[in-house]
Amino acid sequence: MTKFTDTLKNRRSIYALGRNVKQTPEELEALIKEAIKQSPTDFNSQSTRAVILFGNAHETLWNIVEDTVKPLTPAENFPRTQAKLKGFRDGFGTVMFFTDTDVVTELQNQFIPYADNFPGWAEQSNGIANANTWVALEDQGLGANLQHYNPIIDEAVAKEWNIPANWKLRSQLVFGSKEGEAGEKEYMDDAERFKTFK
Ligand SMILES: Cc1cc2nc3c(=O)[nH]c(=O)nc-3n(C[C@H](O)[C@H](O)[C@H](O)COP(=O)(O)O)c2cc1C
Repeated sequence: MTKFTDTLKNRRSIYALGRNVKQTPEELEALIKEAIKQSPTDFNSQSTRAVILFGNAHETLWNIVEDTVKPLTPAENFPRTQAKLKGFRDGFGTVMFFTDTDVVTELQNQFIPYADNFPGWAEQSNGIANANTWVALEDQGLGANLQHYNPIIDEAVAKEWNIPANWKLRSQLVFGSKEGEAGEKEYMDDAERFKTFK
């Protein structure tokens, strides 16, 4: 295999994250922007949006999540939830990924025969950007994990960062220094998964 496939393999969900990061926020911001810009989108629509959080802004997001989930969580389970959220807050930053729904609607109106495909394609495009960003961070030696506290945090996030109404929150990629190993990962049989014809 190649260095690239090694990087793909090494991209894992790392939950023990820290701030022992040698890159500056500016360097990581440039890396994240490039990973998203170079990700393909349907019709080159570039419907993916991102808000990149470092420092206090990153901590604020995880405080918002904690405040939002608290009333929704049975009291006896909350310490466990709180510990998990602390793990995210202990990271170095978070990328919030959004889809610009105006772009999707515009495409649906413009290309009627494909109208039903555009929401799914926007999700695929967003997912590709998530994955490329995750791999780019791994390539820099950083760990990350992918969270989905949308839609319950959408309102508070929109208020805090003045997010346009047409930006729909899709995911939160938390990243930082790797302070622990990824868990064991099992792979299903290739024979059940792939077919090749020559
Ligand atoms: C679309 C998608 C949604 C996911 N959502 C979550 C999530 O909400 N929380 C979480 O901890 N991990 C989430 N993950 C991470 C997966 O659980 C993880 O990628 C998978 O178990 C394989 O492990 P690996 O990332 O270490 O290779 C998500 C991954 C994908 C692709």
